[in-house]
Amino acid sequence: MAQRYVVQTGDPVLRQVCAEVRAFNKDLHDLLDDMKITVRAESGAGLAAPQIGLPLRVVVIDVDEGYFEMVNPVILSQKGEQIGPEGCLSVKGKQGTVRRPDKVKAEYRDRFGKKHKLTATGFFARAVCHELDHLDGILYIDKAEEVYDLEED
Ligand code: CO
Repeated sequence: MAQRYVVQTGDPVLRQVCAEVRAFNKDLHDLLDDMKITVRAESGAGLAAPQIGLPLRVVVIDVDEGYFEMVNPVILSQKGEQIGPEGCLSVKGKQGTVRRPDKVKAEYRDRFGKKHKLTATGFFARAVCHELDHLDGILYIDKAEEVYDLEED
């Protein structure tokens, strides 16, 4: 297991429509393990496989509600609206103001291929929407009402 390099905007892999996972095997488990190490090392709220160079429909989400591994995720329904700040590990040093649904229901498979559903609200819903967008080659900067530089510490 290893921390992976997170590609930055401009890399064409971030603009691909990712392929569905068909094999729930050791390669997938290794990928998910590496994504967990990487998202934690980078202090992210989530990470999508294309961000480490693999155009596959796999995301991880690390929020107050828990740690989620979502394979072949699909949003089933969405409700309400929230407007707030958003960043991305592939757009270093920036943040943007993005409109998102306030509540989403999603369906996904776990690393063993078992189907699950989740309901997310607030920041969790924002993270789900952001990460799932990555699987269709969409970045938050495409949707942001404004993008600004983060202050350096
Ligand atoms: Co992102």
